[in-house]
Amino acid sequence: MAFLTIDQTKCKRDGICSAECPRRIIIQEKDKSFPQFAQADEANCMACGHCVAVCPHGALSVTGVAIEDCPKIENDRVLSWDQTEQFLRSRRSIRCFKDKAMDRGTMEQLINTARYAPTASNAQNLHWTVIEGRDNLETLSRETINWMERVIQAQPDSQAADYFRPVVAGWAIGYDGILRTAQTLIIPSAPKESANGLVDLSIALSYLELAALPLGVGTCWAGLLRGAMLATPELLESMDLPEGHTWFYPMMIGYPKFKYHRLPERKAAVIHWK
Ligand SMILES: Cc1cc2nc3c(=O)[nH]c(=O)nc-3n(C[C@H](O)[C@H](O)[C@H](O)COP(=O)(O)O)c2cc1C
Repeated sequence: MAFLTIDQTKCKRDGICSAECPRRIIIQEKDKSFPQFAQADEANCMACGHCVAVCPHGALSVTGVAIEDCPKIENDRVLSWDQTEQFLRSRRSIRCFKDKAMDRGTMEQLINTARYAPTASNAQNLHWTVIEGRDNLETLSRETINWMERVIQAQPDSQAADYFRPVVAGWAIGYDGILRTAQTLIIPSAPKESANGLVDLSIALSYLELAALPLGVGTCWAGLLRGAMLATPELLESMDLPEGHTWFYPMMIGYPKFKYHRLPERKAAVIHWK
């Protein structure tokens, strides 16, 4: 059960916390008394911390989101539109990585930032499996190539076979077109019963890949490996993901070998105004 703590010396009874509460659990009577949890709904608090974050007076604290743990937003650190646009446009899928192991501290820093991604009902129940070492990644790539060879053999005229042939040919001459030269692979997972787990996992990976940019770390969604994981139970088992969890996408991580100098253009947005 969550508890709301109000510092009555700071609270101005302006009703902002009550208006902001997504589940309308915080009530403030018309007589302008201090806000409080609607008792019957107290257990429904999802500890999102919106009440703490929105109060201009620093008057509120809630179980699980203590005000001491919620730093102030510093206005001089808010990004401008120009900075934001360049930042988002400069994220690239990295396919050439340095021959350098990923630093664990940096990995933890990235994962710790990704946990601020939104999760449905503020569930925050993701786990992160990190597979380290080029040898281990190469084994996963090899298993993916084996799966591709089986697909090519079974359905030689399929679109998949056409897509896979050059990847398999590349592997034969020593190029890993699956996990490239990445040093680390990360796979977030969530308990199977979480209704929006797959969306939560995707958003968290997107956060992680953006957070990687200023740390000089590169990422790439590993779609080909995902295909092999879905089709090959032994491969999935070898990755030892948490029991009872669902997963959605693996992501390659490493230090980019090259620097990018331009922002490539993308297709114009198709918008349907109604
Ligand atoms: C869901 C998803 C799966 C992807 N799978 C792969 C993959 O298996 N191998 C790869 O090299 N790139 C993969 N990519 C990267 C895309 O090809 C890349 O996003 C696209 O070419 C645009 O380049 P950019 O990310 O640098 O803007 C994937 C991207 C997404 C979003």
